[in-house]
Amino acid sequence: IVRSSSSAKQSLLRRSFSSSSSSVPERKVAILGAAGGIGQPLALLMKLNPLVSSLSLFDIANTPGVAADVGHINTRSEVVGYMGDDELAKALEGADLVIIPAGVPRKPGMTRDDLFNINAGIVKNLCSAIAKYCPHALVNMISNPVNSTVPIAAEIFKKAGMYDEKKLFGVTTLDVVRAKTFYAGKANVPVAEVNVPVIGGHAGVTILPLFSQATPQANLSSDVLTALTKRTQDGGTEVVEAKAGKGSATLSMAYAGALFADACLKGLNGVPDVVECSYVQSTITELPFFASKVRLGKNGVEEVLDLGPLSDFEKEGLEALKPELKSSIEKGVKFANQ
Ligand code: NAI
Repeated sequence: IVRSSSSAKQSLLRRSFSSSSSSVPERKVAILGAAGGIGQPLALLMKLNPLVSSLSLFDIANTPGVAADVGHINTRSEVVGYMGDDELAKALEGADLVIIPAGVPRKPGMTRDDLFNINAGIVKNLCSAIAKYCPHALVNMISNPVNSTVPIAAEIFKKAGMYDEKKLFGVTTLDVVRAKTFYAGKANVPVAEVNVPVIGGHAGVTILPLFSQATPQANLSSDVLTALTKRTQDGGTEVVEAKAGKGSATLSMAYAGALFADACLKGLNGVPDVVECSYVQSTITELPFFASKVRLGKNGVEEVLDLGPLSDFEKEGLEALKPELKSSIEKGVKFANQ
């Protein structure tokens, strides 16, 4: 265990920051895979979040350095690094929110599903530990293939007898972030004002942006909308290819992960009307897991919102994504029950 500074210094820090944060509840956030390409910038962004009082950084390697580095930043949270499975229990105990970017990323030519064999096992082990040490925490799953790792987590939690479907989230925020950026470019509107729901799942054609519901509205041709949809679906691959073997999206993913974690914390703290897209257990289609707009609250998912009106193009996209998403879900369930 590496504390970011001596305990005397920490209590001083706690005192000096306590007045500004006295009305904000204490929240422990754990990041599993915190020394990775996503984990490090995500640790930085969560250290900047005033809703976090304790930041727990876990990885199988290199967390002492990341924790020492991030821990010097003069913001509210105490930072502790934990390394190796022996320290996983302490990393998780008391966590309100666990964010999981542990695992291997894609290389050019790989699909997210190609990561299944390695990442499924990692997620299974980490979720078994969550069930034991922080069964009430919200879980934000970033590790790919999200379409399968979320069902794996659900099965592990069911076996442990603590599954609460309101507390398990697949992080699809990066798809929303990309859709907003690409749409703003074509619609010529200020990107900060753009909203675009993205539904379905988080891989290729299972990613379905609903540009017909985008705001501010713009009159884009069907060719442009088709191209925007394809670019959003292939956004991850665009980065994988540009990085040419050095991994997948890390910085934009850390931003998206921090945005979604912040929304979860706001929900826990009782802030009303916090709505984000996420891949959750769902009954809005016939598939058991599906990404759509979700209202977040004190217990996690407060309401899974319905899809709203779809264009014909989006209706076709929805039907086209179902077989792949269904088989990815089944693959995860089967793996967890082997
Ligand atoms: P990376 O390889 O840079 O980092 C992964 C980290 O996980 C490493 O530090 C590694 O030591 C750690 N790790 C491995 N096994 C672990 C275990 N059992 N417990 C704790 N930590 C462990 O990979 P990167 O780029 O950070 O990506 C991580 C994951 O996020 C990948 O699966 C990637 O596909 C996924 N991803 C998801 C996105 C999304 O939108 N949901 C977007 C981009 C990536």
